[in-house]
Amino acid sequence: MVKIAVIPGDGIGKEVVSATIDVLDTLNLNFEYEYGEAGDECKEKTGEALPKETLEIAKNSDACLFGAAGETAADVIVRLRQEMKLFANLRPIKSYPNTNALFDNLDFMIVRENTEGLYIADSEEYTDEGAIAKRIITREAEEKIINYAFDYAKNNGKSKVTGVHKANVLKKTDGLFKKIFYEIAEKYPSIDTEDFYVDATAMYLITRPQEFEVIVTTNLFGDILSDEGAGLVGGLGLIPSANIGENGALFEPVHGSAPDIAGKGIANPTAMLLSAEMMLRYLGENEKADKLDKAIITVLSEGTYLTGDLGGSSTTKEMAEAIKKNL
Ligand code: NAI
Ligand code: MG
Repeated sequence: MVKIAVIPGDGIGKEVVSATIDVLDTLNLNFEYEYGEAGDECKEKTGEALPKETLEIAKNSDACLFGAAGETAADVIVRLRQEMKLFANLRPIKSYPNTNALFDNLDFMIVRENTEGLYIADSEEYTDEGAIAKRIITREAEEKIINYAFDYAKNNGKSKVTGVHKANVLKKTDGLFKKIFYEIAEKYPSIDTEDFYVDATAMYLITRPQEFEVIVTTNLFGDILSDEGAGLVGGLGLIPSANIGENGALFEPVHGSAPDIAGKGIANPTAMLLSAEMMLRYLGENEKADKLDKAIITVLSEGTYLTGDLGGSSTTKEMAEAIKKNL
């Protein structure tokens, strides 16, 4: 049995998780689900946004599915990423039919370092002149993320990895990143490499996004570029993500609890389903992941069962049911 921790959280998190588990049930997987509470409602009830039991369930799982939290998101998801030591944040940028994608032929992966850079606890302080932040780049963490990106390329039929930095200005921190990038590239002679400055990359994502296959970058740059990537392929209802560590992984849609539509049963389940698809691949269930992807593409292309954000009028359940029927 594969142990899956399920943390639905708040608002539409609960709705899209329930629809997703229902779809996964059709795939005859060897999964055992363990549910954990977390989020705003949980905090109201128990006093804690992320109770110890939930953290334990997540830590002891083979993989974790997370819906969304509300105002307590930082106490829940940021903490889960830290406690589970999830060093890699993966954001696929892929165009799906019948969506607001700006290009219809994108399929690349952004691999973002998730533990250091400018986003570290207590890295900022006030000074007499204003405020100051530290940017931490360690050889260990950057080697890990760059290796991950090259392995990802190798295992997923990608032929090129692009390293993104600002080494012309941040000569020491990003100078080191760039040096490590090319050291690791030497171990992967069959994979092409290139490196760009982050500002140029922001432009290339608009002018020639088709040319990217795998992008690897530091924490802040990855945060910004992955939202730019999300913009290229349209709508929060469609964007999944993965957080990978050495001893665990967590899969979540990029969207939040959407209080404006929560409780109405109209949230788009696609982002959560695509997150589950990433989980299937992580667990080596590639055939079933392909099947799920095909079913999602069919339902999107047919355009009969789409939620409101995609211009349709179906409910979460109706869209998920249509995907289930195509499996
Ligand atoms: P949000 O992602 O919840 O919603 C932004 C807009 O996109 C809303 O209009 C919403 O209706 C729409 N939307 C999002 N997902 C959708 C879906 N699956 N189908 C259809 N429409 C969808 O972001 P917002 O409004 O900034 O935050 C709401 C709450 O969520 C806040 O309390 C915030 O802290 C939390 N949040 C949690 C995250 C997490 O748990 N990882 C991430 C982002 C926000
Ligand atoms: Mg972000």
